[in-house]
Amino acid sequence: MTQDEMKKEAGWAALKYVEKGSIVGVGTGSTVNHFIDALGSIKEEIKGAVSSSIASTEKLEALGIKVFECNEVAKLDVYVDGADEINPTRDMIKGGGAALTREKIVAAISEKFICIVDGTKAVDVLGKFPLPVEVIPMARSYVARELVKLGGDPVYREGVITDNGNVILDVHGLAITDPKALENTINGLAGVVTVGLFAHRGADVIITGTPNGAVIEE
Ligand code: A5P
Repeated sequence: MTQDEMKKEAGWAALKYVEKGSIVGVGTGSTVNHFIDALGSIKEEIKGAVSSSIASTEKLEALGIKVFECNEVAKLDVYVDGADEINPTRDMIKGGGAALTREKIVAAISEKFICIVDGTKAVDVLGKFPLPVEVIPMARSYVARELVKLGGDPVYREGVITDNGNVILDVHGLAITDPKALENTINGLAGVVTVGLFAHRGADVIITGTPNGAVIEE
């Protein structure tokens, strides 16, 4: 089975957490794209979605699913999203697709974070995947220097502007043994919009696509 087929297993298995008549929080990425296809198959049964990116919004709307503004919705029951890495305590690195800020906002208004991944995303210690940090453009060099002081090797993601008009630094070379502390530290730097560490708001359920189908950990 290919990696994409395993992503598909995970994406479709997440339908189990979607309540009839609800508005669903929808993440971003290739795994979520399978979940959006799955949502399309039950679109008459849901009220709509809150989306974490322009890309997901376009895909949802193309399937005829109504997309609500985040400000119109006080609370969501579930948020379904992928991850770039997830550790045994369910902290995640996200933002490989540059959607980390909106993802963190939609996750923050959601009761349950359902993380959909293939087996390659599970790690013991976060950090092999470069940690994305969304930064206000004028702060790029300052934040990069501060990230070096934290032991990282930040690389400017050339040619990428986020949905919020900012830039991304991908921080290589970190072994993240205290994700919550690092999330606080990086979020505290002037000019940082969001760090792609999801530790304070980690995953509640993990759905891993495997060659034998989806494995659900609650
Ligand atoms: C988007 O910014 C990311 O947080 C994605 O959730 C993450 O990169 C997972 O992407 P894939 O599902 O494409 O692997």
